[in-house]
Amino acid sequence: MTVPEIRRIGVVGLGAMGAGIAQLAIEAGYETVGREVADELGDKALERVAHFLERKVDKEQMTGEAREAALARFSLTTDLTDFAECDLVIEAIVEDLDAKLALFAELESIVRPDAILATNTSALSVTEIASAVATPERVVGMHFFNPAPLMPLVEIVRAELSSDEALEAAYAVGERLGKRPIRCHDTPGFVVNRILIPLLNDCIRVLDEARISPGDLDTAMTAGAGWPMGPCALVDLVGIDVHVHASEALYKKLREPRIAPPPRIVAMKNAGLLGRKSGRGFYIY
Ligand code: CAA
Repeated sequence: MTVPEIRRIGVVGLGAMGAGIAQLAIEAGYETVGREVADELGDKALERVAHFLERKVDKEQMTGEAREAALARFSLTTDLTDFAECDLVIEAIVEDLDAKLALFAELESIVRPDAILATNTSALSVTEIASAVATPERVVGMHFFNPAPLMPLVEIVRAELSSDEALEAAYAVGERLGKRPIRCHDTPGFVVNRILIPLLNDCIRVLDEARISPGDLDTAMTAGAGWPMGPCALVDLVGIDVHVHASEALYKKLREPRIAPPPRIVAMKNAGLLGRKSGRGFYIY
């Protein structure tokens, strides 16, 4: 398949991940369209991006002019048809297969035939998502890590029918975004989550086994294993609901007991303790 030169990027879903990806895109010089379902949600994402860019100016990592120019490249919409001229659309909506299938089918009817469609899914199958479209060769995974503007990795995921051209174009975008991309196949959890999810769930089990507090567990893993942040702080950052969902999705595919979410964290999710975003998880924010 022939892929276009990537100049204009669409981002669907401007939650923590989508807003972070949009921030990277405008900083790298791409014209960027961000779509949320309601104007208020789009405005909130813009505020978040503007705030982080302002901090970069404060810390002299960016000039005021560069910040203004980056923000001028960012437009918001609630209407998917505004993606018609995008060369690459990155989906970062809720981790729900049916929602993603419906979105990809709709996107295919809007974008040009040569546009690339990428998903930021962390635990669903890119191949299954690509089954929603008649042209699965244009679908790849671009899996960013939280917080997207800070974490250097992006996994460029080859689904069963992804074309080499689409994969390489996504890899090149990853590089231009200042990331360290790696290529991998569409296996459950790809590379990092296949390892990190069971590891974090083991950490949560140790809370009860060793009868220690989240603070002490985090001290153990930062001071004793060199982690940049402790497992409880990390799950609070990622979102308890996101972590539980990813654990369940991977467990369904791999059936390894360590991958299943421990009851303690499922109860937290059910009680609405979602981590940083709800103000309380293992810690209070
Ligand atoms: N977006 C944009 N910019 C941000 C940001 C965000 N979400 N969060 C922070 N920043 C900016 C801020 O401007 C901040 O500076 P100020 O506080 O001066 O404003 C600057 O970045 C530095 O922030 P920190 O001081 O918090 O940075 P740090 O040096 O403590 O590092 C960290 C933070 C990079 C998150 C580090 O703690 C780390 O590497 N933690 C591990 C994170 C991790 O493992 N992530 C993967 C999660 S798993 C995942 O994402 C997979 C999945 O599919 C669920």
